[in-house]
Parts: sequence; structure tokens; C-alpha cells
Amino acid sequence: MLHNIRVRVNGEWVEACVPSHRRLLDFLREDLDLIGAKEGCGGGECGACTVLVNGEPINSCLVLAVEADGAEVLTVEGLGDAKDLDPVQEAFVQNSALQCGYCIPGMVMSAKALLIRNPNPTRDEVVEAISGNLCRCTGYARIVDAIMQAAQAADAAGPAPAGRAAGHAPAAEVSRAGGE
Ligand code: FES
Ligand code: FES
Repeated sequence: MLHNIRVRVNGEWVEACVPSHRRLLDFLREDLDLIGAKEGCGGGECGACTVLVNGEPINSCLVLAVEADGAEVLTVEGLGDAKDLDPVQEAFVQNSALQCGYCIPGMVMSAKALLIRNPNPTRDEVVEAISGNLCRCTGYARIVDAIMQAAQAADAAGPAPAGRAAGHAPAAEVSRAGGE
């Protein structure tokens, strides 16, 4: 069965027709070509597929695209790009907080969600926030360092301007056909 859905992805409304069983992860990666979110376990264990839905970090491998109908979805592509990194991304680079990089988009999105709801987290709160994101390479210390640095940098800079910080680019209507 097909469903028409309308989702605001990285600030742009997207309309699509998707099968009932289409996962949000596949909708983002295959239909919208947003390949930042990764598939690791496919079962809610690794966090590589983490994106924000209405500001909350979720495992997009466990959510159906139809469940995101009407929602605001933010992926790592909505944060920044190579020329204009989000402070969280910048801190990961400065702290060399990655090796293979496979887990990093999910890590960054979990960190972003934390800093949106709690701009001044303790180290323990950072560890808790990324507890659902597995990394087989880094040992986590540099990742936690990076998130703490991002929090301090944001604190020093004052409140972020509305819009970009939350991944809200000017909205534009686009239509895409999903389906398999
Ligand atoms: S791929 Fe979604 S939690 Fe691992
Ligand atoms: S950097 Fe390789 S899995 Fe995290």
C-alpha cells in the first residue's frame, strides 16, 4: 500500500509517495539522496542512523517514513557543509574525534540534540547522550571532548541565531516520488 507523505527535511518540505514498510532511513538515503545517516545494525543498537525528528534523536532504521508525515526531520546534511561547519562538526574536526567516520553523523546528531535541549551539559550528560551511538574506532574520549568543546564554544558565542542552528533553511516546496 502506498501513502502520500509530506515531511520537512532540513528546512524543505518534501512530498512523496511511499510504501507502508519504507523505513525513514531508506526514504532519506535512497529517495532523497541524504546519505549522511548510515545503516549499521538495522536494529536500533548502533545509532549510526540517528537523525532528529521534531528535535528528538531517533534511530531512523526503526521508524517508518509514514510515521514522519508532517514532522520536521534534521539530518547531518542540514547542519553545515565543508565550507560552513556547524560548531559540533567543527569541534569533532578540531579534536580529531573520528577515525573511519562511519558512526560520526549519528554521533553529531545525538550531540546536536543534547546541546539544543541542554547547552551546558556535564561530561556525564554527554556520555549519557551518546550512549546509544556505538563507535568501534575512537574509544569515545575525543568524541566527548569534542562535544564539551562545542558546548563551551556555543556558550562563549551567546545564543545562536534562529534558523541555521536548528537546521531551518528557508523552506521550499519540492516533490519527489518514493517507492520501490
Ligand atoms: S542502523 Fe539504526 S540503530 Fe543501527
Ligand atoms: S570512527 Fe569508526 S566507528 Fe566511529
